[in-house]
Amino acid sequence: MDVTKLLLTAVVSCVYLFCSANGAFCGDGIATEPEISPETELMTYYLSVTSLADGPFPGVDLLQVKAPVNASVTQIMMLAQKYSGGDFTFDSTYHETWGTFVHTINGVSNDDPYYWFLYEEIDGGQTNCGADFVRARENDHFHWVYEKYVYHY
Ligand SMILES: *[C@@H]1O[C@H](CO)[C@@H](O)[C@H](O)[C@H]1NC(C)=O
Repeated sequence: MDVTKLLLTAVVSCVYLFCSANGAFCGDGIATEPEISPETELMTYYLSVTSLADGPFPGVDLLQVKAPVNASVTQIMMLAQKYSGGDFTFDSTYHETWGTFVHTINGVSNDDPYYWFLYEEIDGGQTNCGADFVRARENDHFHWVYEKYVYHY
């Protein structure tokens, strides 16, 4: 499906229960890199990155990431950054209440009206919890999209 159409549908149809029904759920926030020992149970998650702004952008089609069970999106991103050999990089600031705020991915920063938004591809919904609080289930696919923020009021 066309990405723009998918996003429009997602924004319109996404409500909290619907969004968390199949895949990721909101849990306690985790913003630290996971400890991985030989005993750690790892699961497979997917990450992709798209920019809807003009100009060339080093996007990520589908990056497979192994991370612990119930990893937060922040943790998945940390492992992706560590092991993707430069294909995926990000920068963030930390807020005591809202947790990790991702402002830059693959060198492109939030720049009004464009911002980074996190979508969960299983149900195509925009996530309602911050990256530290979105906790993944196996095979979950998280998609960062750089797009125009639409002011609603
Ligand atoms: C993962 O999260 C679920 C839901 O909160 C919990 O029931 C389960 O015990 C957690 N599993 C692990 C390995 O942390």
